Amino acid sequence: MSVIERAPAKTNLFLEVPRRRDDGFHELDTVFSELELADTLEVAARQDDQLVLHVGAGAPSGPDNLVWRAAEALRQDAKRPNLGAELTLTKAIPAGGGLGGGSSDAAAALRALDQVWRLETPPERLHALASALGSDVAFFLRGGLQRGLGRGEVLSPLPSPALPLHLALVFPAFGCPTPDVFRALRPHLPTEPRSPDALLAALGAGDLDAVAKTVFNRLEAPAFELFPALPRLRDALATRPGVLRVLLSGSGSTLVCLTTDAAAAGAIADDPGADLRAVATRTVA
Ligand code: C5P
Repeated sequence: MSVIERAPAKTNLFLEVPRRRDDGFHELDTVFSELELADTLEVAARQDDQLVLHVGAGAPSGPDNLVWRAAEALRQDAKRPNLGAELTLTKAIPAGGGLGGGSSDAAAALRALDQVWRLETPPERLHALASALGSDVAFFLRGGLQRGLGRGEVLSPLPSPALPLHLALVFPAFGCPTPDVFRALRPHLPTEPRSPDALLAALGAGDLDAVAKTVFNRLEAPAFELFPALPRLRDALATRPGVLRVLLSGSGSTLVCLTTDAAAAGAIADDPGADLRAVATRTVA
């Protein structure tokens, strides 16, 4: 039996960091949104106990890949170390871009392997395995629109927005290492954390101008400080026709242009500027 799973990207329409925790992680209050842009993971069971991962050039195919670690964690948890699988990952989401690609691939591996290995792992076990793999892996078990607290793994589903958001994702040539961005955040931690309530109201009402005014990312300040090319690019993108707001995705380096419609997003994707890659996509409820 073989299964093909979609492994979608995410962006954070809202990301506040109320405080640093004693365990070195940061407390988050975030609104995750699934995007149409997605990797694809094909999974088939093997007759032996090998985990074989096929990936494109440049990506790790062993324990350094979160997909491989997800497979290993699932068979260990099930106490079935002899289960083997062949996994083929086709990437569309750039790595190191703050779009959760690696995390989503890992969640897709958990979902697909649970099926092909016929494990019927209880949802709370899958959630625990996902959370141990990375802070935003658990979001991708269900996707859609969810509020994330804790490290981002304490999730609650949000009502579907009244309309999809049309976005152009612009990828700089460099990635932003997440630990570096969180480290640089210290002087920018808020005394009074913001709330996503105004954004959630705007999404519910389908008020695009209000959405553009209330999307927020606390990690922008430290990422922009570390990578001065980002605010320059943000300013350039903000002048393009139909762009309502430009926001950093997660810890970067992807810049998300919120646009009036699919045509405006497509125009940026077709011509993002010198040395840049971009795609047009939209949010998935
Ligand atoms: O959990 P994940 O592997 O995605 O996190 C990568 C790094 O980002 C962590 O080691 C930590 O330095 C930082 N991080 C954090 N607080 C979070 C999520 C990530 O400090 N809530």
